[in-house]
Amino acid sequence: MTNQPPAPARRSANTAASLGMLGLLGVQFLLGMAINLFVTLPSSGFGMVEMMYGGPLVMTHMMLGMTLVFGALFAVAIAAQYGYWAIVWAVISLGGILVAGVGGLIFLLDGLRNSASFLMAVGFLVAVIGYIAELVKIT
Ligand code: HEM
Repeated sequence: MTNQPPAPARRSANTAASLGMLGLLGVQFLLGMAINLFVTLPSSGFGMVEMMYGGPLVMTHMMLGMTLVFGALFAVAIAAQYGYWAIVWAVISLGGILVAGVGGLIFLLDGLRNSASFLMAVGFLVAVIGYIAELVKIT
């Protein structure tokens, strides 16, 4: 880390990564809310195999959840070229996404617990706050 201002290219890469992740999180939020409101899930016997048949919304939401994990790792790698606070916020967002993913899996595998659904909402919010904070810090 140096005291010199970061190169504009690195700033642009960080801005693009944060904005891209916020966009994907927005889509994930809408998919999650759509499942919550319009999909009826079986409250018991929802194992790993049945998860694959949860319908297109659940499937897309799960796939996007995995994409978000990879995207968040990529965002940390980009943040590592920028500076301390960019890394801190990118790691906090990664943590939020991981927590949300764990919440989603627990929700489906353990009887649609409200607390697991809430965990997803909390993880989502933490991730969004992290990327907004990163944007504020680097612009
Ligand atoms: C394998 C991963 C995931 C699975 C299986 C999953 C599954 C689900 C399901 C079944 C719902 C509906 C919950 C309900 O009806 O109460 C939901 C909602 C939601 N999910 Fe996920 N999800 C996953 C990952 C994520 C991730 C990574 C995020 C965001 C970072 C996220 C954000 C949300 C949000 C915001 C909602 C709507 C609010 C809520 O019900 O909590 N999910 N998800």
